[in-house]
Amino acid sequence: MSPKIFLTGGTGYIGGTTLDTIATAHPEYEVTVMLRKTPETFTTRYPNIKVIKGDYDSFDILADAAEKVDVVVHHGDSDHEPSINALIAGLLRRPTPGFLLHLSGTGICSDYHDESQLGRLNPKVWSDISSLPEIRALPNNALHRNTEKIPHATAAEHGDKIKIAIMCPPDIYGQGRGTGKTRSVYIPAFIAESKTLGGGEIKDARVFYVNEGTNTKSWVHIDDLAAIFLKVIEAAANGGGGAEWNDKGYYFTGTQEYSHLDIATATGKILAEHNIISNPEPLQVSIDEIDKMLSWYPIPHLSRYLFASNSRTKAERVTKLFGYNAKGPGLLESLEADVLDAVKSM
Ligand SMILES: NC(=O)c1ccc[n+]([C@@H]2O[C@H](COP(=O)([O-])OP(=O)(O)OC[C@H]3O[C@@H](n4cnc5c(N)ncnc54)[C@H](OP(=O)(O)O)[C@@H]3O)[C@@H](O)[C@H]2O)c1
Repeated sequence: MSPKIFLTGGTGYIGGTTLDTIATAHPEYEVTVMLRKTPETFTTRYPNIKVIKGDYDSFDILADAAEKVDVVVHHGDSDHEPSINALIAGLLRRPTPGFLLHLSGTGICSDYHDESQLGRLNPKVWSDISSLPEIRALPNNALHRNTEKIPHATAAEHGDKIKIAIMCPPDIYGQGRGTGKTRSVYIPAFIAESKTLGGGEIKDARVFYVNEGTNTKSWVHIDDLAAIFLKVIEAAANGGGGAEWNDKGYYFTGTQEYSHLDIATATGKILAEHNIISNPEPLQVSIDEIDKMLSWYPIPHLSRYLFASNSRTKAERVTKLFGYNAKGPGLLESLEADVLDAVKSM
């Protein structure tokens, strides 16, 4: 029998790319997605994928769909608690253990709550093996901690009935391959805020940094992330062997790291070379300026997290299990395409 998969967030940047990767690699899988709106091209591109309508607050739809499949892959909103509760409730109704991949993010390891660290290199590098006890004990104000607590508790209580993997990517770059959103967050947000900082005209935009700009984060190309999702989904579809679950089911995926100033400098250069801005030099801004950025976003201090914090992670589990080798282009190689795409979308 073909493995049955239920996937959420299939029109998103990450979820759409994972979905496309599964559909291409395993046309034999029986895939169902839950969408709140179906893009025009979806059914022509994926004629064999079943679509059910609903959103993350549709408890019964999510739970019923999870109950019927072997593997649930939950993307789209790493902070939404009711949806993960619903999926777990459905999986726990199965007569045999089902698998859950839950998308989180390395924002959980960010030091953005520590003002003394903003714009400065933090030597701390987190491992998804040796730092796992520390990650599981992070305070409630850590990003995505509200949702990560749920699968951790479920795995501890019902480990015989459910197998869980928390997928924890860092910042992501590169063009997505789904039918909906194909852009990541960081580069478009950085250029939009550079434009506002320059007064609102793109030609006057100023790329920026805070303090020394040496705050550093890990990065992964979207295709490398999707390749890791595929490996873990394949392991789940084959009964779980070859991957690790529950108390060991935690996966970083970063392949490289850069300081914010490295990225700001490279972005300014690309924008100037394309005659989009006149001054490529990164401008030092205050923490108050950073705090004015992205203030409309529902996550408080998201701009500190994105532009001023450190979140350095080592993908040790995928290296150990799958001999992880990045195949996608590096961030700086991909940057020109991502920057021009972000400018086009403004
Ligand atoms: N991008 C990154 O660099 C990155 C890195 C690490 C972690 N993350 C985390 O990963 C998550 C997904 O990121 P993304 O960049 O893939 O986001 P995205 O492109 O905005 O995709 C979100 C997806 O989730 C769906 N969705 C959101 N809320 C929903 C709801 N209430 N009901 C039904 N569907 C809903 C969207 O559907 P519609 O098409 O209908 O809107 C879309 O399919 C975020 O929580 C983010 O914090 C992102």
